[in-house]
Amino acid sequence: MKLNLSVDAVLSTTRAVRRRLDVSKAVPRAVIDECLELALQAPNGINQNAWRWIVVDDPATISKLGALYKAVVAENSKALTSGTAGIPGEDKVLESAMSLVNIIDRVPAMLVPLMPGRPEGRSAPELAAMYGSVIQATWSFFLALRERGLGSVWMSAATRREKEAAVILKIPFDHYTQIGWFPIAYTIGTEFKKAWRKPVSEVRSFNVF
Ligand SMILES: Cc1cc2nc3c(=O)[nH]c(=O)nc-3n(C[C@H](O)[C@H](O)[C@H](O)COP(=O)(O)O)c2cc1C
Repeated sequence: MKLNLSVDAVLSTTRAVRRRLDVSKAVPRAVIDECLELALQAPNGINQNAWRWIVVDDPATISKLGALYKAVVAENSKALTSGTAGIPGEDKVLESAMSLVNIIDRVPAMLVPLMPGRPEGRSAPELAAMYGSVIQATWSFFLALRERGLGSVWMSAATRREKEAAVILKIPFDHYTQIGWFPIAYTIGTEFKKAWRKPVSEVRSFNVF
C-alpha cells in the first residue's frame, strides 16, 4: 500500500528509523523488490550496474548479524556517543541509536549493498566513483520504503565487523565492499517530521569557499 506522499514530503520526512521499526510485521519479498526496482533507477558510473544487493530475511542470519552489531555498539559506545556532542536533540539521537541495538537481531529483513573492489589504497576519484555509484540508489531505496510505510537506518558502524559478516553472507571479502547494513521493517505509524539541519545560509556559499 502506498501513502501517496508528495515528492517534497518524502524528501523531507524520510528519517533514520530505529525505535519505530515494527519487528512484529513481516515484510514481503515483493515489496523489497519493488523498492529495489525503483532504487536501481538511480545513476551509477558509466551505467555499469556493478552493485550487488543482498537481502537477508532468514531469521537465523539476521540474528547473527544483529549480534555483530550489538558487539560493535558495545565496543565503540564512547566513540559513537562523543560524535553526537552539541547536536540539537543529541540525547534523542543516542537513545534512538541504543534502541536499535535492542531489536536489530529481530528485524524482518536487512539489506546489504555491495560494490566490487576494496576501498583500501584507492584514489579519491576511484572512491568517489565507487561510493557515488551505490549511495544514490541506496537513498532512493529509503525513499521508496518511506512511500510504502516502511523505514530503515544506515548502520555504517556495522561495517566494523565486515569480515565476520562476509563469512556469514558468503561474500568474497577481498573482492567486494559492504556499503552498510540497512534494516527493513514497516514503521510504527507513518507520520514523520522534518529534521533539524543547519540552515542553508550557514553551509552554502556562492562561487568561493
Ligand atoms: C553515512 C551514514 C552513516 C550512519 N551510520 C549510522 C550507524 O552506524 N548507526 C545508526 O544508528 N545510525 C546511523 N546513521 C543515521 C544517522 O545517525 C541519522 O541519519 C542522523 O542522525 C540524522 O537523522 P535523520 O536521518 O532521522 O534525519 C547514519 C547515517 C548516515 C547517512
